[in-house]
Amino acid sequence: MKTAMKALIAVAGTVVALSGMAGSAFAADAAQLALGKEKYEYWCATCHADGPRENGRLLPGTASLAAKYGSSRPAALEARTDLLSPYVELVIRKGMEGMPFFRKTEISDAEMQAIGAYLSRNTKQ
Ligand code: HEC
Repeated sequence: MKTAMKALIAVAGTVVALSGMAGSAFAADAAQLALGKEKYEYWCATCHADGPRENGRLLPGTASLAAKYGSSRPAALEARTDLLSPYVELVIRKGMEGMPFFRKTEISDAEMQAIGAYLSRNTKQ
């Protein structure tokens, strides 16, 4: 009886420890996504926000991607379901036709990874 009780306590302890880990991993993800959204809005939405502006024109990034993909993919990056984080990170550091690259002094590696996580949040991997 004593041994069974000890085993039960050990199992319960493990469950508590595991659920604690899962809880903190989830919190880290949520924090990373929140950071990614904040940095995306600051650095990227100026060119990539969805829809026409007051003057009826699309922003440069949204307009270029609309021209590139037509109706096959959403023109707004936030609505995409096919972006992978390493690709987003590459484009951030290298730039792309008409898009500037960003230095580590502007967007740190952690912030870049957070933007990548945010823009790939709807991609099934
Ligand atoms: C000055 C405007 C501008 C800013 C600011 C900008 N972009 Fe872009 N971005 C563009 C343009 C224009 C393109 C389209 C290039 C092309 O025609 O191939 C583009 C393309 C991209 C692509 C490629 C999408 C694809 O389907 O291949 C990604 C990813 C991207 N941008 C991410 C970002 C992120 C993340 C940020 C912020 C850190 C950002 N961009 C900031 C203008 C901008």
